[in-house]
Amino acid sequence: MLRLMLSLLVAAFAAMIANTVLKVTPFDANSVVNKTRDISTTNIKYTSIKTTNGVHLNTIEVGDRIKDKNKPLVVLLHGFPETALTCWHNQIDALADSGRYYILAPDMRGYNKSDKPGNFMDYHLINLISDVHSLIHDYAGREEAYLVAHDWGAIVAWRFAQTHPGSIKKLTIINVPHPAAAGLLVKHGSWSQVFSQMWKSWYIAFFQLPNPLPEYRFTNNNYSTLKAALRDLTSSGKISELELQRYVQGWSEPGAVTSMMNYYRGFLMGNLYGTIKDKLFSTNTYSLPPTTDTIKKPTMLIWGEQDLALEFALAGLSYDYGVDESVKSQSRFVPLAGVSHFATNDAPERVNELLLEYLN
Ligand SMILES: *[C@@H]1O[C@H](CO)[C@@H](O)[C@H](O)[C@H]1NC(C)=O
Ligand SMILES: *[C@@H]1O[C@H](CO)[C@@H](O)[C@H](O)[C@H]1NC(C)=O
Ligand SMILES: *[C@@H]1O[C@H](CO)[C@@H](O)[C@H](O)[C@H]1NC(C)=O
Repeated sequence: MLRLMLSLLVAAFAAMIANTVLKVTPFDANSVVNKTRDISTTNIKYTSIKTTNGVHLNTIEVGDRIKDKNKPLVVLLHGFPETALTCWHNQIDALADSGRYYILAPDMRGYNKSDKPGNFMDYHLINLISDVHSLIHDYAGREEAYLVAHDWGAIVAWRFAQTHPGSIKKLTIINVPHPAAAGLLVKHGSWSQVFSQMWKSWYIAFFQLPNPLPEYRFTNNNYSTLKAALRDLTSSGKISELELQRYVQGWSEPGAVTSMMNYYRGFLMGNLYGTIKDKLFSTNTYSLPPTTDTIKKPTMLIWGEQDLALEFALAGLSYDYGVDESVKSQSRFVPLAGVSHFATNDAPERVNELLLEYLN
């Protein structure tokens, strides 16, 4: 009897894994509703910037770092599974047209035409933070920047604000919780909120599996799963063929999908490995400040409430606990009703308006 139950359990588990790995979310071409919607490229010029890590970042640059030295620097950090262009095209146009800023929007390491170091430790937060530091100080030659970030870019930006508060003039975060917020949710949230968030985060565990399992799931059938994720995560459910072509080009760069997975591997396994290594060799190569540190620079937290991957409760916790009392009077929490995780694409006018108002 016990043996039967055990084999059933094992079979169910195997089926679950197989299903997760092999099931490709169908992508219905009919959801491509507007074939003429395009990504504007009016202000787009790319520069290859070499960071102090020796990694080249393919970066959208608006303005000239020398000639525009009187204009404040805005750094835009995109997330998974986007690129600087697909995430920020609307904002780059609006910020550029204002004539008020010098702008850098990198394809984060591993994405599109940026270098793709092959080890998941290369995607440890310490290295991602160092890339941002390099852009602001070594390349742009600035003391500080307006840092604006979404999704994975925002995970890096929160941590950057904790490690290098002096490099930030104002921080803007779109739809990502403060690093301590998940812990706070467990402590202060309801069980249903905690379970709901765990359920939504299952994919992070799945991404820890080695190449090619998660990679297969994403590249199979012309990136059907990634396309469906973009569509499902957009409240309108609309994405144009031109946009899809652009995304597919980015994902098709050799090694790009593995790098995208390596962000998650670096975050969990890499963090563990780094901590153990530092302990063993009495070094602090991978040490970061406590996740509970509050942000000591003015912060605007924009949050599309229709985020399917992140509990809305995390937003309030992030703002209330994460933004230091000393800067609250210069900070803002802006929930956006009816807007998805991909707020820069889903509510471009609203986001542009908020940025132009806040970044001064
Ligand atoms: C498609 O997008 C274009 C450009 O954004 C817009 O002018 C047009 O009205 C849209 N058409 C439909 C049917 O939504
Ligand atoms: C893959 O998807 C893109 C974007 O939808 C499309 O343009 C391309 O033709 C597709 N490629 C194949 C081989 O079907
Ligand atoms: C990738 O970068 C190139 C410029 O190097 C650009 O033309 C292309 O549109 C970018 N692709 C995406 C998906 O951002």
